[in-house]
Amino acid sequence: MKLLVTRPIPDQATARLRAEPGVETTVLEESAAMDRAVLLDGAAGADVILALLTERMDGELFDLSPNLRMVANMAVGFDNVDIRAASARGIWVTNTPGVLDGATADLAMALLLAAARRLPEAERFLRAGRYRRWGPMLLTGQEVHGRTLGILGMGRIGEAVARRARLGFGMEILYWDERGRPDLEQELGVRRTDLDTLLGAADFVSIHLPLTGDTAGLIDAARLARMKPSAVLVNTARGPIVDEAALAAALRSGAIWAAGLDVFEREPEVHPDLLELDNAVLLPHIASASIPTRLAMAQLAVDNVLALHRGEDPPTPVVRGTR
Ligand code: DGY
Repeated sequence: MKLLVTRPIPDQATARLRAEPGVETTVLEESAAMDRAVLLDGAAGADVILALLTERMDGELFDLSPNLRMVANMAVGFDNVDIRAASARGIWVTNTPGVLDGATADLAMALLLAAARRLPEAERFLRAGRYRRWGPMLLTGQEVHGRTLGILGMGRIGEAVARRARLGFGMEILYWDERGRPDLEQELGVRRTDLDTLLGAADFVSIHLPLTGDTAGLIDAARLARMKPSAVLVNTARGPIVDEAALAAALRSGAIWAAGLDVFEREPEVHPDLLELDNAVLLPHIASASIPTRLAMAQLAVDNVLALHRGEDPPTPVVRGTR
């Protein structure tokens, strides 16, 4: 099996690939796959590609890779893979669900707290030598504990956020999801609402939806206008779910209080207006970036590759291939 790994991944995971008899592994240099021509060239002879969310896996690439049997994505999200094109060609697609729920939920809470209590702004203030004395109104922000959190998408990560917010911060939880979660309604007292009700009632809105044709642009100017002026929006899912220009306008005008963003519409670009705003807390897509979680993601991607190689069932398929 010829395996292309599109960027270096943690060493322990690469070592398992290199130790597997019959697997010939090529790992592209850190920035090589950013060059589409290099990626296509590397993919051309591959039986399997272990890809990252930064690489587009589409019909063009599949057609240039006649032997390709699997794309093992090292991410839970797989919007970088053209699922229809893969299915039509019988190519397996796998992802890495489950192993990053805790790390991502931790970071969503960190962003929520940082935006509500103005942590980056306060730190910038202090480092600039502007802290002269304690002040009763100095850098006051929004209360977090006991407030209402609206969760868009109550899957595994949404649930992990709900647990932290409910059990750690005593927050009331509303959620919007096409699938009801009676188990969590029973256990945590979370309540399911329609989207507009949630947006109007929540003090915090945290997004945990996949990027699909239905969710792209979901949080647009009209939906932002439904939120409270004191509300905080957190996005650790995918950037294009939020209209960034509309968000920047809402933050600038005070239509909402603040935002905590780990993901952007056109990563790695960030809308220039957001970069100017103190009430936007901005991170470079690091929600799952704890050392153990990134290793677990890589190992799960490797599990999928090795399972295919050994003629076993890949553990976390998104598309079941026929090749
Ligand atoms: C994913 O896995 O989809 C994240 O965005 C990166 O961890």
